[in-house]
Amino acid sequence: TTTRTFTMIKPDAVANGHIGNILAMITNAGFKIVSLKLTQLTVSDAQAFYAVHAARPFYGDLVEFMSSGPIVAATLEKENAVADFRTLIGSTNPAEAAEGTIRKLYATSLSQNAVHGSDSDENAAIESTFHFATREEF
Ligand code: CMP
Repeated sequence: TTTRTFTMIKPDAVANGHIGNILAMITNAGFKIVSLKLTQLTVSDAQAFYAVHAARPFYGDLVEFMSSGPIVAATLEKENAVADFRTLIGSTNPAEAAEGTIRKLYATSLSQNAVHGSDSDENAAIESTFHFATREEF
């Protein structure tokens, strides 16, 4: 049975010209793109999306960074989508990311780490609904 995950190509990777290469890695790894758009989060969008991190010391910087420029939002479908996508992107800190992962290749720091990946099936659904209308889902 196929499942879904949600990803964002973050402002650093968009600004550095990596949209095409990252989408190619995603599709080459067997993920089907079911929703896709170039968009930008407002400060209040980013605050809401990352509300789970509101008490963390990096929350303000995270919100500022994630609303600083365009992102690519996408919902992806595959067997075991959440776990397999987290393997494809690598560790949160690119210094610890495995060779060949998206973060190893394209992230510049812990906070500017190129891509987001959902951490559970439940959050994948919440995050996808945050970004996409039903008519944008295929
Ligand atoms: P992500 O897991 O996609 O979502 C939360 C983000 O917070 C995380 O990626 C990091 O990019 C960012 N972040 C910034 N500073 C830290 C930190 N000290 N620890 C964990 N995450 C951090």
